[in-house]
Amino acid sequence: MSEHPEQTQLEQLSGQIKDLFDASLQPCALPELDISLYLLEETIEDRQFSPEQVETIWANMPYWAFAWSSGRALARYILDNPQLAAGKRICDFGAGSGIVAIAALKAGARSAWACDIDAMAHVASRQNAQLNGFKLQCCDNIEEAGEVDLIVVGDVLYDTRNHGLAKTLFAKDCEVLWAESRAQTKLSEYPPVAKYQAQTQPNIGGFDEHQFIHIYHHGS
Ligand SMILES: C[S@@+](CC[C@H](N)C(=O)[O-])C[C@H]1O[C@@H](n2cnc3c(N)ncnc32)[C@H](O)[C@@H]1O
Repeated sequence: MSEHPEQTQLEQLSGQIKDLFDASLQPCALPELDISLYLLEETIEDRQFSPEQVETIWANMPYWAFAWSSGRALARYILDNPQLAAGKRICDFGAGSGIVAIAALKAGARSAWACDIDAMAHVASRQNAQLNGFKLQCCDNIEEAGEVDLIVVGDVLYDTRNHGLAKTLFAKDCEVLWAESRAQTKLSEYPPVAKYQAQTQPNIGGFDEHQFIHIYHHGS
């Protein structure tokens, strides 16, 4: 066990970013949320990647190193409506950096889980929570979170394996707040409660088409 486990965890995260992008991981302020996250450095936006590099990046995408537009929008929605999270046990499904869980904790959530299939997202969520003065727990399967009052979801429909997820999550005995830019076909039977415009940070190629976000609230 290292004498400085936090340092070791940050080194693990930075190492993955260095290997994949030859770039660094940096604490980044998102002023509109008053939240800081360890993200892939913003100068990456000026870099050109070959088609082979793009393929490698997408095959190994460290989703946790970005603040995705839907997560940013949902974090904003929760901070605009703190009563939605205050006092609740929440689970951030597809947490990535943990951005939405952190917003819920800022809004007064009693406790938060970061649920993600990527073990590095657990490390990132813990580090990001700590950077903002919070603690959270991590799991790779939502059942491990036990009883929660609110599930928050930001941007998971990019993966076709998640296209049946609405039925599963909406059948649970709790509220669900869900933000997507790709939801028009998959969640269209549920009317959105809000629409936001947000950018993914850092914004590398092709993300602009995902700047218009719909927010859904089930079980309110
Ligand atoms: C596009 S990122 C969004 C991260 C964060 N919510 C945000 O908005 O910045 C999607 C995340 O969902 C995770 N994910 C995808 N499918 C999942 C599943 N079925 N269960 C748990 N996590 C999942 C991925 O590993 C990734 O970290």
